[in-house]
Amino acid sequence: QQSDELIFFVNGRKVIERQADPEELLLYYLRKKHILFLNFRLSGTKYGCGIGGCGACTVMISTYDPVAKQIQHRPANSCLLPICSLHGAAVTTVEGVGSIKTRIHPIQERLAKCHGSQCGFCTPGMVMSIYALLRNHAEPSMEQIISALDGNLCRCTGYRPIIDSYRSFAREPTCCQLRGTGQCCLDQEECVCSSSTGDQVSYIRYFFPLSPVCLCNPEFPPMDPTQEFIFPPELMRM
Ligand code: FES
Ligand code: FES
Repeated sequence: QQSDELIFFVNGRKVIERQADPEELLLYYLRKKHILFLNFRLSGTKYGCGIGGCGACTVMISTYDPVAKQIQHRPANSCLLPICSLHGAAVTTVEGVGSIKTRIHPIQERLAKCHGSQCGFCTPGMVMSIYALLRNHAEPSMEQIISALDGNLCRCTGYRPIIDSYRSFAREPTCCQLRGTGQCCLDQEECVCSSSTGDQVSYIRYFFPLSPVCLCNPEFPPMDPTQEFIFPPELMRM
C-alpha cells in the first residue's frame, strides 16, 4: 500500500483511489457512473436535501476497532461524508443489502408487504438505518427501532406502516395472538393490537382484501445473518 492511496470497500468490492478529491462527498461518489474501472452507479442511495436533514442518503459504514477488537456498524448520511474519511472502512449501500436482481432482504420485504413504501424515495434510507441497527442488535427493542429511524423523513406514508413493518423485528411480542386474544387483528372489526389503529386495518382490508399481510401475525422469512456481507479481513490488518 502506498501512502497516498485511499482504500475502502463498497458492497464487498475494494476501491483504491490514488487522487481522491478531498471535497468529494460519498453520496455523489456512489451515484457517479464509474468509479475508476468499477461500474458502480449506485443510484439507490438518494439525494434528498444534501444537508443531513432527511436521511434519504443513508448508508452503513463499518469499521474495525483494533483496541476493542470489534467491528462497528453505524448509519451515516453520505451527503455529509467526505470519501477521504473512509480509509479502512467498508461501505454498504442499499444495493448491497438486497435487490430484485439478487434477492430481496427481509428488511425490504417486510417494508413492502406492510405498505411502508409509497413513492419509495425515502425507502433506501429507511432500509439502511434499520439494517445498521440489526447488524448491531439482532433483536432490538421498539425504542431502538424508533430511535434508529429518527433521522429518516418520509413525506408519504405517515410513518405508521414503516414502524409496523419493523416492529416485526422487535424482541417484544406484539402479536394479538401472543397477547392472548387468540384472534388475528384482520379478523376483527377493530384492531386490538397496540401497533395499529382500527382505521389502518380497515383501510388495508378495503384496498387489499386478499392481501396475505397480517400486521399482527405476519409470516415473514426470518433474518439470516449468514447471508450478510462479512467485514473485509484485509481491513482488519490495515
Ligand atoms: Fe438528505 Fe443526505 S440527502 S440527509
Ligand atoms: Fe414517499 Fe417515504 S414513501 S417519501
